[in-house]
Order: sequence, then C-alpha cells, then structure tokens
Amino acid sequence: MSVVVLDFGSQYTRLIARRIRELHALSIILPGTASIDRIRGEHPQALVLSGSPRSVFDAEAAKPAPEIYDLGVPILGICYGMQLLAERFGGTVGEVGPGSYGADTLVDREGPLFAGLPDVMDVWMSHASSVETLPSGWRAVARTNGNPHAAIASPDDRWIGVQFHPEVVHTPDGRAVLSNFLDLAGVDRSWTAEANAERLIHDVQRTAGEDGVLLGVSGGVDSSALALLLAKAGVRHHAVFVDHGLLRAGERDEVASALRPLGVQLEIVDASDRFLDALAGVTDPERKRHIIGAEFVGVFREAAERIGGMRFLAQGTLYPDVIESAGGEGAANIKSHHNVGGLPAELGFELLEPFRLLFKDEVREVAQRLGLPDEIRLRHPFPGPGLAIRILGEVTRERVRVVRRADEIFLETLRNAGAYHDAWQALAVLTPIRSVGVAGDERRYGHVIALRAVTSVDAMTADWARLPYELLDRAAQRITREIPEVGRVVYDITSKPPATIEWE
Ligand code: XMP
Repeated sequence: MSVVVLDFGSQYTRLIARRIRELHALSIILPGTASIDRIRGEHPQALVLSGSPRSVFDAEAAKPAPEIYDLGVPILGICYGMQLLAERFGGTVGEVGPGSYGADTLVDREGPLFAGLPDVMDVWMSHASSVETLPSGWRAVARTNGNPHAAIASPDDRWIGVQFHPEVVHTPDGRAVLSNFLDLAGVDRSWTAEANAERLIHDVQRTAGEDGVLLGVSGGVDSSALALLLAKAGVRHHAVFVDHGLLRAGERDEVASALRPLGVQLEIVDASDRFLDALAGVTDPERKRHIIGAEFVGVFREAAERIGGMRFLAQGTLYPDVIESAGGEGAANIKSHHNVGGLPAELGFELLEPFRLLFKDEVREVAQRLGLPDEIRLRHPFPGPGLAIRILGEVTRERVRVVRRADEIFLETLRNAGAYHDAWQALAVLTPIRSVGVAGDERRYGHVIALRAVTSVDAMTADWARLPYELLDRAAQRITREIPEVGRVVYDITSKPPATIEWE
C-alpha cells in the first residue's frame, strides 16, 4: 500500500514524498514516465503528479503512462501535474507571461481538499503556465486574485489539481491539504516509526533466518542503527568497524561502548598504518577518496575471509540512494562518495538493505525506537574518508594529529556552550597555508585552521551557522593555545552552493 509520486523533475518531488510520510503514509517516488506495471507493482492507493521545470506545451515534457487514469485511484496533480490532468480531460492550459512566483492568497475555497482549513490561506506559487478552461463538469475549488483556477476538481473529487505547492513550508496549511487528500483517497496511515521498527525486525528475521550477516560499521547513524537492528532481531551477525586512522578523537571507543552493551557483535580492526601508508604523498582529493575506498574494501575483504560462513552483507542504503541510482533528475554526483555502502559485488554476498525505503530522518526515528544512544543517533555527519579530506595537501600522521585536535576542541566548545545541535555539521580544516604570527619576540609561521559550521536539512544545500562570536573566540583561543603549531584560526562564511560543506 503506498502513494506513488510520479516525478516530472520538480525540485520539490522529494519534499512531496517526505510530507506524505510525515502524514504516516508510505510514499514511493517513480519517474514520471514509469510503466503502468511498475506503478501497479507499488500497490498505489493514490497518485501524486509532481511539478516540472517544463510546461505541458514542451514537446520534450514527460507524460505519464495513459493507463494511470484507469487505475481507479485518486490523483492529485501539483502545478505541472495539475496541467497534465486538465489537458487529459479536455481543459486548456495557457502561458501566464513571465511566470508567477512567490506568496499568494487562496480565496473561495470549497470541497474536501480544504476541509477544516481557514477561509483565506497563504500559499506558495511557482509556475509559468496555468489552466485556462476547465474540463467539462470540473469546477474550481479555490482561486487567487489573479488565478480563477488555483485548485480544480473533477465532479467526484477523485481527480484534483492544485496550482500552488502544498509541500513547501511557505504554504503553512499545505500539510493539512495533503492530509485531506490522503483522507479522501482512503490511504493507509500506518507508516510510523514504531511500525517501521517492528516491520524491519520482522523482515530481517525472515530474510536472514539462520544465516549469518556481515556488516561494516562506520560510526554514523545509518550503519550503527543497522547493526542494532540485527542485534535486536537476534540474527547471527558480525559487525566490522575499520579504524582507518582518520577518525575523530575518541570515536572508536564511543562506537564500541555504545553498541556492544546493546548486543552488537562488534570487531574493531585497526588498519590506520595501512591507510596512512597508502596515502603518503597523495594530495589530490579524489585520489585520496579512491585510495581510502580501495583500502577499505581490502580490509573488509580480509575480515570477511577470516570470519567466513556469512551469507549476507548488510548495507545502510537509504531511499535517496535508491532514487538516485534509479537515475533521473538531480542525480549528478559532485564528489565520488565512498561509503561503507560502496562494497563491490564480487565479495560474493547477498545484499541485505533493510533501510532502502527510508529517508535519513526515518532511520533516526527507527534508531530511537531500537534504543540507539543519542550521542550516536544525533551526532553530526562525518565523511567516510574522514579527516583525510579535511587536510588540504598531504595526509601525514602529524597533520592528522593537528586537525583531529582542532576538531575536538571546536566540537567540545560547541557542546560546552550547548550549541552542538545549532549546527548540522561542524568541522575543522587544516589548510595548506602557513601564516606569520608572533610568539614572544619572534616571528613564527604556523598552520591556518579553518573552522566551518553549517545548518542544513539534507546536505544538498547548507548555510554557514551564525555561531556567537564569543563561542568562536573561545574555540580560536583554545586551538592556538593548545596546538602550538597552529598560528591562526579563520571561520568559513560561505554557503553551499557555491561552496561544498567539506573543503575537499
Ligand atoms: P559536501 O562537501 O559535498 O558534503 O557538501 C555533503 C555531506 O557529505 C559528506 N561527505 C562525504 N561523505 N564520503 C562520505 O561518506 C565522502 O567522500 C564525502 N564527502 C563529503 C560531508 O561531510 C557532508 O555531510
């Protein structure tokens, strides 16, 4: 049972899917042109047609499989999706000049989509064309001052189009609009963290049975939650934590002391020498990632051979990875991300990917139900290649020591000020610059450490965190005092885009 969201390339498609999930219904994103069999395979109780950067006049614009209208399930068309509906049933669509973007106000609303909502509603518009004449028998169920067809419905209210975007926060009652749609479609609302945790335990038990499961644990929330899921499900498992020598201070012990008491069979492999030796002399960021990825696979393969007898390899693949690997808009990869998720098929395992339908926040919720301690569950993300991509230039043991200590001091300062969760991610970067300073009567050239803290929702975009000056001051003072090799500390005030979160 699901709501299938057909993606026509809108920047908001994932948001639509997430909003529906927040309303406790499972949403599945499929390409706008998905075949009817593929759509049927998801057992939809309703469909949502997303917006699109294109207009229905565009010859290149994707159209859905014509049979979707015979599925007998309600359809909500948003923006371009609404225009698809109007065209399909004999209405007409016209250009609205330079386009209509931004806040607007809905008036004259009626029908089940707006049940229980205020008479006048703020909504967010973003479109270049709109419905001019309605299909026969259809009616407008909302208008704005400039648009008589801000929302339209078929006579039986099973096909509904909205020109505004209910999924964005700038439409404050958008959530209620979507909820009303789910109600009128009679969509199952049992997609809750509690039910998900139970379902996942059950699925893992059923799939793994008596067979063993191997997995890599990185210390991040996904792989830790996965390890815990296997432990809670009571399946035979072996979790391998590879210490590549590029971890944050104390991380290895934290992971061990969080997971072992919860029943996770965790082995720690200290491979730091191997990684650091392989990285000697390498300065190119993508080569660093590549080497780390390759070494990781090597270490993991050896662990797998040593342990033996495991049938499955569990991976913390998430729903966005699944959408992205299915191709489609927005799938461009800016950096090659080597995660524990990137283990090659030739290891010969069957894959177990329990989280493949979950968004990250859903994994966090499931992790909480499973009892993952908050230090791990709510901790800032950390890249697989670790501190190697926070050291610009060559990675040496000495430089790892400097950046690790700077990172530790920065995070400690944030924690002590109760500001750790004000940042989505915070980090220290060792720049390749030496700058002059004074120590006593001497001029001294020291390292430059850049501090970066960002706010973000999903790392796709980020803004620099407006941390209090006093806090930055405390961090800078401690870093220069406690790490004598550092002569200067700067704070990065670039958002993403154009910068990325990491410096490499
Ligand atoms: P960027 O720097 O691309 O980072 O804005 C977005 C998020 O991804 C993390 N990141 C990585 N994670 N392997 C990973 O597992 C990588 O190579 C990698 N590069 C960046 C980064 O820390 C941020 O959370």
